[in-house]
Amino acid sequence: MEDTAQTRYDAATAAAYDGRAPVTIPGYDVMHRLACSILRQALPGSARLLVIGAGTGKELRTLGESNGEWSFTGVDPSGEMLAVAREALAGNGMAERVQFFQGVVQDLPESPGFDGATALLVMHFMPDDGTKADFLRAIARRLRPGAPLVLVSQYGQRPSRAFDEAIAAWKHYQLSLGMTQEKVEEGMARRLRNNTYVPEARIQALLEEAGFDNVERFFQAFVVGGWSARRAAR
Ligand SMILES: C[S@@+](CC[C@H](N)C(=O)[O-])C[C@H]1O[C@@H](n2cnc3c(N)ncnc32)[C@H](O)[C@@H]1O
Repeated sequence: MEDTAQTRYDAATAAAYDGRAPVTIPGYDVMHRLACSILRQALPGSARLLVIGAGTGKELRTLGESNGEWSFTGVDPSGEMLAVAREALAGNGMAERVQFFQGVVQDLPESPGFDGATALLVMHFMPDDGTKADFLRAIARRLRPGAPLVLVSQYGQRPSRAFDEAIAAWKHYQLSLGMTQEKVEEGMARRLRNNTYVPEARIQALLEEAGFDNVERFFQAFVVGGWSARRAAR
């Protein structure tokens, strides 16, 4: 079967995701907490947030629980991931502040209605053949001028010694948290086969070409990087 966002994030993956992600993804909880702090700094009052690749609701929970005056649109093509998010949010009293949209950001109405956005752990699934650029442009078109974006993506220069060493260190990280060698090798082979890694300079250029400025890296764990940016006032 072709490995796409739809097949990769099926019901079994969705059910296991919240338990697995903090073990498989380096700095997972810290990265979400940092994203929340960056947005909080930029958006002190009420705000409408666009959460792209909302998955099982990690961002929605992290951002929503400590910012009672924010409302959210959570976008994801996987109905199975969104079903887990819906259930989690029904239990924590946030449901009325969250709208879910099954699809991709390009399917949303094109108007600069959002005050901020996150796209955590999504863009590395896209090839750099115009797909990453189109994704970032679609986000920019839905943000008001000056709105913050927090982007987290796997990245890096392939081939390079630094990249190979980061992947080897990432494997040790997963082993140290109790994953089996077999699962570690299987997951890493899948990432290296399916994800498109580009160097940091390319990520910065893509953001700027899409209409963002003030691009700053705030996070790195092996080949997982995080950048904050602002929708340029044009
Ligand atoms: C690794 S998970 C990350 C989920 C969440 N952001 C987190 O930090 O835990 C990737 C998510 O991106 C979603 N996804 C894949 N392609 C996407 C796209 N083009 N637009 C939005 N979401 C996408 C998948 O369905 C999946 O739920």
